[in-house]
Amino acid sequence: MAGEKRIGILTSGGDCAGLNAVIRAAVHRAAHYGWQVVGIEDGTQGLLTRPVRYLDLSLNDVDGAMMRQGGTVLGTTNKGDPFAYPMADGSKKDRSAEIIGGLRELGVEALIGIGGDGSMAILRKLAQLGDIKLIGIPKTIDNDLGITETSVGFDTAVAVATEALDRLQPTAASHDRVMVLEVMGRDAGHIALSAGIAGGADVILIPEVHWSIDGVAAKIERVRKGGRNFALVVVSEAVKTAEGTIPQREFADGQKRHGGIGNYVGHLIAEATGAETRVTVLGHVQRGCPPSYRDRLLASAFGVKAVDLIAEGKSDRLLAWSNRQIVDVPIEDAIKTYAAVDLDSTLMQTARGLGIYIGDVKA
Ligand code: F6P
Repeated sequence: MAGEKRIGILTSGGDCAGLNAVIRAAVHRAAHYGWQVVGIEDGTQGLLTRPVRYLDLSLNDVDGAMMRQGGTVLGTTNKGDPFAYPMADGSKKDRSAEIIGGLRELGVEALIGIGGDGSMAILRKLAQLGDIKLIGIPKTIDNDLGITETSVGFDTAVAVATEALDRLQPTAASHDRVMVLEVMGRDAGHIALSAGIAGGADVILIPEVHWSIDGVAAKIERVRKGGRNFALVVVSEAVKTAEGTIPQREFADGQKRHGGIGNYVGHLIAEATGAETRVTVLGHVQRGCPPSYRDRLLASAFGVKAVDLIAEGKSDRLLAWSNRQIVDVPIEDAIKTYAAVDLDSTLMQTARGLGIYIGDVKA
């Protein structure tokens, strides 16, 4: 509609539960101001093609099942930095001007970017070059953005991992087994720590803390001596082996991803304790399921607030959850603060207080 204000929204980086709930909330709030929301497809990739790939989003488009769905209806990408875009011939090309041109083609005055720290750094540069207002919303199941107490997707990932432990416990008890659960968290152990406590694990291994097979075996031995016939072990994917490496898998496109530490730990436990040991790698089920109620609340609050900030004329701000409310901070500051697990945190003290083996000293 001529003269109508248009704002763009895109999801960037790995998907997670709750992204659709953010989009829905933004469309609702934009309708309140009489603005049109344009959903850009596949993150910045949708701005590289001509015509630009996008969806006009109205209330009718977002008010069905969308909030309940995992993933993102817009699609996303965690590849292809537009400032060093990988071309077919193996070279890298700066394609930022094409992306800015795409935003101009859409006629958006402001952009809501939902992503992690890497995506925010890229979007910020693009917004500055293109003179486009940008509001960022933090999402990552890894919950490693330091500025916010929690990010969209984290709560659901923890809920899935906790439920996995609920399902592993009866089968572990039935067969007198040690069950190892490998969970995601590219560099930080937040999912493992939270799910491990909530799911009654005996051992939690996270990348922030050094561990030893002797320590793990001693804990399992104590469990046995106490009269229990099974044990639950949670291992974050970024935990290092005794040789100091993080097991990884290489994919067809040459990219490497963490994966394999669960089997490594399971093998060592079987050797050290003689226990029958099984390993479950949880993987992407932590991302693709319906969002938890907490993620729906967080996503809805972020989506509404992002549009309100645009209405106030603000830009270059990232939303964060802090002390029971949303605050907004400069994106530049926000992406500088990485949050590994704090070894003195309440959750670490809780794990130790519960007698969980969580390693020996800082990694
Ligand atoms: O950062 C989110 C995350 O799910 C990590 O926990 C995991 O290591 C990685 O992404 C997996 O990436 P991909 O979806 O590319 O396999």
